Amino acid sequence: MTLQIKSFDEYKDAYRRSVDDPEAFWAEQASTFEWREKWHTVLENDFITPDVKWFVGGKLNITENCLDRHVKTKPDQLAIIWEPNEVFQKPLRLTYKQLLSEVNKCANALKEMGVSKGDRICFYMPMIPQVAIAMLACARIGAIHSVVFAGFSANSLADRIKDASCKMVICSDFNHRGPKTIPVKEVVDEAIKMGCDSVEKVLVFQSTNKNVEWNPDLDIWWHDIVDRQDDVCEPEVMDSEDMLFILYTSGSTGKPKGVVHTVGGYMVYTCFTFKNVFQYEEGDTYWCTADVGWITGHSYILYGPLLAGATTLMFEGVPGHPDAGRFWRVCEKHRVNQFYTAPTAIRALMAAGWHEPEHYDLSELKVIGSVGEPINEEAWHWYDEKVARGNAKIVDTWWQTETGGILITPLPNITDTKPCFASYPLPGVQPVLVDQNGTELVGNNVEGLLCIKFPWPSILRTTYGDHERCKSTYFAPFKGMYFTGDGAKRDEDGRYRIIGRVDDVINVSGHRIGTAEVEDAINQHSGVVESAVVGYPHDIKGQGIYAYVKAHHEIVEEAHFRKEILDIVTKAIGPIAKPDVIQFVIQLPKTRSGKIMRRILRKIAERDTSNLGDTSTLLNPESVDELKEGAEKIFNS
Ligand code: WTA
Repeated sequence: MTLQIKSFDEYKDAYRRSVDDPEAFWAEQASTFEWREKWHTVLENDFITPDVKWFVGGKLNITENCLDRHVKTKPDQLAIIWEPNEVFQKPLRLTYKQLLSEVNKCANALKEMGVSKGDRICFYMPMIPQVAIAMLACARIGAIHSVVFAGFSANSLADRIKDASCKMVICSDFNHRGPKTIPVKEVVDEAIKMGCDSVEKVLVFQSTNKNVEWNPDLDIWWHDIVDRQDDVCEPEVMDSEDMLFILYTSGSTGKPKGVVHTVGGYMVYTCFTFKNVFQYEEGDTYWCTADVGWITGHSYILYGPLLAGATTLMFEGVPGHPDAGRFWRVCEKHRVNQFYTAPTAIRALMAAGWHEPEHYDLSELKVIGSVGEPINEEAWHWYDEKVARGNAKIVDTWWQTETGGILITPLPNITDTKPCFASYPLPGVQPVLVDQNGTELVGNNVEGLLCIKFPWPSILRTTYGDHERCKSTYFAPFKGMYFTGDGAKRDEDGRYRIIGRVDDVINVSGHRIGTAEVEDAINQHSGVVESAVVGYPHDIKGQGIYAYVKAHHEIVEEAHFRKEILDIVTKAIGPIAKPDVIQFVIQLPKTRSGKIMRRILRKIAERDTSNLGDTSTLLNPESVDELKEGAEKIFNS
């Protein structure tokens, strides 16, 4: 059984062991899984190239550990509870035995369609059990899943399909989200027409009786091929370092990159962190509200919980449908013990119904988590008072797509909690704060750039098809360390508080958006000369998107122009990247070398213009007053 830390002394002991002898510590954890062949070397650590390998030479299949292993001991325990979008619709429950049989059928269908080990399969799916089934089916046969959040546009989807040369796309016909029914397959069709020549088949799950366009050369209904398959499928024996999945995420420059995770290390780390951070006990029901299109959905709806033999709840809908009580009603109905959501959802629910949680019985909650962005103090206290109510502990978990699993977090009832602090590193995690020059800031009460100086099992291995980019983004900035892109503080007792991104990535409702991506989209408008995008504090979203746009000509119909820009961004990336504010400007502040001075733009968007620093070195210092005036008008309108 994976180690489950139960006291502060045990935490300290595990942490010390994990630093003194990381290999022994992780080998001990890894040995609690089923391997077809044991590893010969625990860790090969090259943090420069980078070339990190864990459990080298080990052979296994992660689905045997997620499913078969539990089917042997508790076949009838629930693996997945699915709560549909509509309250009147019945939840679906799958036991471990049923889930294994569904996964095997889907795996056999994939094989029949010509999918084999190493093929990349793109997912564009709503939150339905079939997404979990098909992801596990890929893992069963050694295919690599690349899940794309179903809110992204056809353009973004096409980019991701092409980048990984996906052989197949798995989607549904439509997506039920709150009051809306969103066309899904239509977006896939549009994407494929954008030159996705690698796609040989589109597997479509039918969730409505609405008509969809059908291309018989490409499209196959899920029910036509999956349902008739045999429910036994021998798992493909994988190497520890074979790819498990690719997940695209935004960075400061260029197009989103495909973060690669491999089988062995990811398995060991997600299971370990799930059991410890959520203190999951046999019989508990665990619910993470994330979408499976993000890393949180991968690690803590699917893999972590199933590896730990837990019952994981999947929710199809949105927090506000049919009303602001939905989350709490679901918690009450399924007697949820661990609940994991994002600050943006907490703030939205807090705004929609301060007292709403009081109407529900939430006494079964033991641990409630937060992830994806810094949680502000007011939201933390509301979550504590209205939801935790003295029964549950808050875990503010910090991690990233690239880290695969949670790295810094309180452990409920084991380490202390302090509002807005992700607090202490988990065993195996060695955080450091450095200054701009890479000098380590020692001691407490310091603030700097957050790096990790030793690999943990689920660290990203590469960025798909571009290892150099992985190196230059994460490993080159500070030699011998993984650079997170976040700034953080360490308090007087060594707790970490994550401040936020220090690069050109903004975190909108917990979604990572690269400012460069949004600028590229805006610049596609023929009337735009150039643009600059920055983040600014937003009450619900955490950060909003503020775009400064310089037009070719005098703008006659501002509202119309604005709408066109929003449409272009929606088309290029998706609605999540739409700017909240567009300020038309005559000129952007530039340095003498022609670089846009983002620092000034950020300050103006944050409405913090008292200290703009030295603007005399600007090529066009007069631009600053214009910008300030323009911003004032927007804020006062
Ligand atoms: C931010 C999500 C503060 C951070 C799992 C990080 C957080 C980025 C927290 C990764 C937290 C995540 N407190 N900030 N508890 N958790 N972040 O890749 O800026 O979607 O770098 O992974 O979210 O976002 P990603």
